[in-house]
Amino acid sequence: MLTAPKVKALKGGKKLAMLTAYDYIMATYLEKAGVDIILVGDSLGMVFQGIKDTLPVTVEEVIYHTKAVKRGARDTMIVADMPFMSYQASVRDALVNGGKIMKESGACAVKLEGGAEITPQIKALIRIGVPVMGHIGLQPQSVNVYGGYPVRGNTPPEVEKLVSDARELEEAGVFAIVVEKVRASAAGEITSSVNVPVIGIGSGPHCDGQVLVTHDMLGAFPDFKPSFVKLYDSQAERSIKAIEKFTGDVKRSAFPPRKNYY
Ligand code: KIV
Repeated sequence: MLTAPKVKALKGGKKLAMLTAYDYIMATYLEKAGVDIILVGDSLGMVFQGIKDTLPVTVEEVIYHTKAVKRGARDTMIVADMPFMSYQASVRDALVNGGKIMKESGACAVKLEGGAEITPQIKALIRIGVPVMGHIGLQPQSVNVYGGYPVRGNTPPEVEKLVSDARELEEAGVFAIVVEKVRASAAGEITSSVNVPVIGIGSGPHCDGQVLVTHDMLGAFPDFKPSFVKLYDSQAERSIKAIEKFTGDVKRSAFPPRKNYY
């Protein structure tokens, strides 16, 4: 099983594959398929709960989902997101909430969105024994500042700031950094500027690894197909067809056949 130091040591070596899970069964799939890291992302707010963004997700919900994921993937590294307002206001908040997630959920590490401004929280978490994954570029918890989910790294000053944030995160002690929806050239520059693995989402091929929301790549949402997601399945279509078939079978008394009852 990967650990924070092992992930860090993979910089520039084997590419890292990370996917999200929020429940036991999906976690069993990811572990069986050999994914390197499972992320219990605060995307659970949108994917699992159907809310419009990640902001309402709570520490308790992250713990609840991470515990379920842990039961399904005991031998895979699990990273849990620290949700909005569980760490931004103070180092104390970060310690109390990060410590609680680690103590109760079975996660191996936590992920925090932000650059230089949150390095005091990151340093403090690492000091008390909590490995931290960084997250820069598009930070979904800041959706209301952006007014949406725009591509980042569009201008030289923006790229400079991203590179400088990545360096500050490395200096603070993170073992890896997620870089979300950043132009490929800028993501490449970030990747070559730090000695920790950069795991991209929608950020092109130059990163040290890739992460996607599992439900996106499995085609579980017929109405949500971001252009950076490669569809590996059409789960929604296949599931709806199967459910239609069951419903039709019940209506015309074709279910249950003899072998399916006692
Ligand atoms: O919450 C999440 O799933 C994430 C990934 C999109 C990186 O942060």
